[in-house]
Amino acid sequence: MTQPTTQSTPQSIKELEQRALKELAGANDADALERWRVAYLGRRGALTTFLRGLAQLPLEQRRELGALGNQTKSSLEEELVRHSQEISQRLLARTIDQERLDVTLPGRPTTIGRLHPTTQVVREITAAFSSMGFSVVEGPEVEWERYNFEMLNIPHGHPARDMWNTLWIDYRDEAGRQPMLLRTHTSPMQVRVMESTQPPIRVVVPGKCYRYEATDATHEWHFYQIEGLAVDEGITFADLKGTLYEFARRLFGEERKVRFRCDYFPFVEPGVDMSIDCFACDGGGEGCRICRDSGWIEIMGAGMVHPQVLKGVGYDPEKYTGFAFGLGPERIAMLKYGIDDIRHFYTNDLRFLRQF
Ligand code: DAH
Repeated sequence: MTQPTTQSTPQSIKELEQRALKELAGANDADALERWRVAYLGRRGALTTFLRGLAQLPLEQRRELGALGNQTKSSLEEELVRHSQEISQRLLARTIDQERLDVTLPGRPTTIGRLHPTTQVVREITAAFSSMGFSVVEGPEVEWERYNFEMLNIPHGHPARDMWNTLWIDYRDEAGRQPMLLRTHTSPMQVRVMESTQPPIRVVVPGKCYRYEATDATHEWHFYQIEGLAVDEGITFADLKGTLYEFARRLFGEERKVRFRCDYFPFVEPGVDMSIDCFACDGGGEGCRICRDSGWIEIMGAGMVHPQVLKGVGYDPEKYTGFAFGLGPERIAMLKYGIDDIRHFYTNDLRFLRQF
């Protein structure tokens, strides 16, 4: 920028003013304006130096040039204010222009999440039972061996323990036993519910279970189960059949038939597995992928609560009877939606999840 002038003539001050105005016109932002102000009007600026230099001149000249100098100074100051206002207005106009809102633009779609397919099916199943008078309760995923096995009539060393490949918690009691595990099924909640209430009982228990399992298309090491329990005076196998039949029709359609076959679970007697006739081939079998030609699909285990289990929680098995059932919501979802691999549920692939 311009060096201070040393000559003191009306001509030189005119030139100084001209130069200053020219430079000011080229200053386009706050920094440039400040630099300009320092160069001309600052303490060591050109104009200030000029005015200071007048002190050495004879009075006559000093008066004339002093008046001229002061005039120039105030006109440059005014010009600076005017120019800065112009610049800030220009900047403002540009910002407004850039940020202008086009109210006619369609809004950006909000991506809303959705419920996981397992959650959807769990809710559908629990809703079906709720409408039949069952309440929904949940229990701990880390469980005592006592609830997961013993109280369900599966004592230590009982071969039935092999039905559940167990993940044990790395914790030992004083006796050196490992009494804690990740529950292998939701059945332990039968015991917890009976211990804490009196009949009549009607509950369903959705929740996560864990097994020491190699995964494949039909096995996961963690999965959901929904347990059901009804205990009261005078409950019979007919109640079990009626309730589960009604459930099957609500979930799979009015036309469904059901089939009960004997099965073994230590905590029920008699124990059954329940199948529905295949909704894909309407029970026809022959070449059906869903029921693998059999015409029937197993959907749950069930049975009449074992007297030993009732006794264990202090109920009189002569007075109270009940039925229990357990089903896997992932399996139900796989059947309903034709999903061919249980591992899809928990690999978090959006291409899979978005289909539900
Ligand atoms: N807990 C059993 C399992 O994990 C399923 C089951 C079968 C639950 C029969 C029941 C039942 O309540 O009565 O394989």
